[in-house]
Amino acid sequence: MKIIKTKDYEELSAEAAKILIDIVRSNPYAVLGLATGTTPLGLYKKLIADHTKNPTSYKHIRAVNLDEYKGLPKEHKQSYAYFMRKNLFEHIDIDLENAHIENGVAADEQAECERYDKLLKSMRQDIQLLGLGSNGHIAFNEPNTSFESTTHVVNLTESTIKDNARLFNNIEEVPKQAYTMGLNSIMQAKKILILASGVNKAEAVYKLVNGDVTEAVPASILQNHPDCTLIIDKEAAKLL
Ligand code: F6R
Repeated sequence: MKIIKTKDYEELSAEAAKILIDIVRSNPYAVLGLATGTTPLGLYKKLIADHTKNPTSYKHIRAVNLDEYKGLPKEHKQSYAYFMRKNLFEHIDIDLENAHIENGVAADEQAECERYDKLLKSMRQDIQLLGLGSNGHIAFNEPNTSFESTTHVVNLTESTIKDNARLFNNIEEVPKQAYTMGLNSIMQAKKILILASGVNKAEAVYKLVNGDVTEAVPASILQNHPDCTLIIDKEAAKLL
């Protein structure tokens, strides 16, 4: 695993942006695996600035997102589909038809997982961007998810519900289930870029880098990926 230590969140976002922009520029038809959450927000701002200034084009880029809350329609302000539109897609020239995410309100849960898996099989990610949960989760693959998992519905753990409550009016509003890309589908990406910022990620970063490869720490599977880059700021690197 390649590790890039940065002095702060700003530098972390700039390093991550360089890697993504490079991929988009070298392959205008690339498949980008994207993530939501707080961590990639700085990176998305930099992609938007670069698109406006340079301008890097996303006209033919295809995007697949990691996860979506079960029960939230794509118009819902807390849905991940909405998050992606507001924080990135509406500010670049991507064709929204090419931006894929699980349907949180699909009538048939099993059929929705199968649809997304089929899509992922036909669109291997040139790069998969990931954030890191403080309990070591990646996407919504919580501790003890099978390394062989494909798209599935998960019951979110108490710690994840608490972490995500800051984005809702109160903790009761946080959905208890989500669709997530599985670990096997994440590992199919040609390249993985995982970002972690802040001291509350330090323990998970330590386990990701130095711990055993175990389903108890989903992110530890990345030790087996042939091309994985971890970018961390000083605080997240505290225990390394
Ligand atoms: C988001 C996702 C999650 C987050 C993780 C870290 O699509 O799949 O795994 O990446 O929970 O979240 P933040 O960045 O908010 O600390």
